[in-house]
Amino acid sequence: MIPSVLVPISHKELLQLFRINSDKGDKIQEFEQKFSEYVRCEQAIATSSGIAALYTLLKASGLRRGDEIVVPAYTCESVPRLVMDMGLRINFVDIDKETFNISIEDLNSKISRKTKAIIAIHMFGNPCEMDEIMEIASNYNAVVIEDSAQCIGAEYKGKKTGTIGDAAFFSLNEGKPITTMGGGFIVTNDKRVAEKSRKIIDNFKEFNILKKIGVVSRLYAYYMLKNQFYYDLIYSMIESRRNNRRDKLKLANNLKFKFRYTDLQASIGLIQLSNLEKFNNVRIKNAKFLMDHLSIEGVHIPKISKQSKPIFLRFPLWFENITKEKRDNLIRELRESGIDAPVAYPNSLPKFFLSLDGFPNTEEVIIKTITLPVHPYVKENDLEKAVSIIKKFIGA
Ligand SMILES: Cc1ncc(COP(=O)(O)O)c(C=O)c1O
Repeated sequence: MIPSVLVPISHKELLQLFRINSDKGDKIQEFEQKFSEYVRCEQAIATSSGIAALYTLLKASGLRRGDEIVVPAYTCESVPRLVMDMGLRINFVDIDKETFNISIEDLNSKISRKTKAIIAIHMFGNPCEMDEIMEIASNYNAVVIEDSAQCIGAEYKGKKTGTIGDAAFFSLNEGKPITTMGGGFIVTNDKRVAEKSRKIIDNFKEFNILKKIGVVSRLYAYYMLKNQFYYDLIYSMIESRRNNRRDKLKLANNLKFKFRYTDLQASIGLIQLSNLEKFNNVRIKNAKFLMDHLSIEGVHIPKISKQSKPIFLRFPLWFENITKEKRDNLIRELRESGIDAPVAYPNSLPKFFLSLDGFPNTEEVIIKTITLPVHPYVKENDLEKAVSIIKKFIGA
């Protein structure tokens, strides 16, 4: 089966194993330099995960316990989990059904003088309407933090995402546009925020040898996933890992992620970064194929702003006249034909964490959406197969 998300790992990355004992930090410095040049910003600071980067940024931006922060109702569960664990107050905002990004209308109605920050999340690699978000934020004196975890290399008005808000973070976890088996970047042009961030990160713990062996083992296992036979073999494990992770996120995680980045990961990252444009070009080409072939009545493909150049980490789409059961049947059919097309985000986060209803767009898309793979291992005949199954399914 074709995995839902996957990043090519070459032999070169596997060979970085010999850096397992390196702790000079020179590779980290080089990776930070190259990443900041790539996104065209002044400071890029590497850390152990996207969530560690967001934690650092929230602290460095001066947010304190009890401060209110806007988070979209539809995204990765670990973002609101962190916000709650830090004692911040979440103001959930609904999304726009056509982009999966924060709804400007709902943001306008929910923001207030109490709001200290907005997390603008570029879902699936499609940039948010940053001009509007920046304008609303400036009217309320709120800080904008871009969550570019799924969006490395996309552009908005000619600028890379992550360089438009006051600060941003990226993730280098498995299943992101490039991966170092865990890792994240803080990105900012604000010297003061960068200095504070470095101080916070300096207090994080070093990886011990067992954790480094964990990185290498994950890298080798991940490398094997390009072999579809292997993915099929461990598919049930992958599924149960996804669900277990979610269940765990319901509980406070006690901020257990405070680790430093390693030279080993940075040396893998340098190779990955050198291939990013190549990977993204395939993602863009595959997404275009799906847009061309699935622009049909009853199917909602993501709307792209004229100002944006998305990269599409996955290709989300939703169906107008479909029940959850029917949607799940379609996912099963695609899986049986060799395409993993998961829901991705099955929860309305206000409901998941706070038992809150009243986010109609999120509540609709969580039951109607599937996400198709568009990563560099996906070929045109895989996409043709997916299109034909979907068309038959909806009777188009
Ligand atoms: C939108 C979004 N934000 C934040 C994160 C957290 O990143 P990490 O897994 O590196 O902590 C993820 C990744 O799962 C994500 O998809």
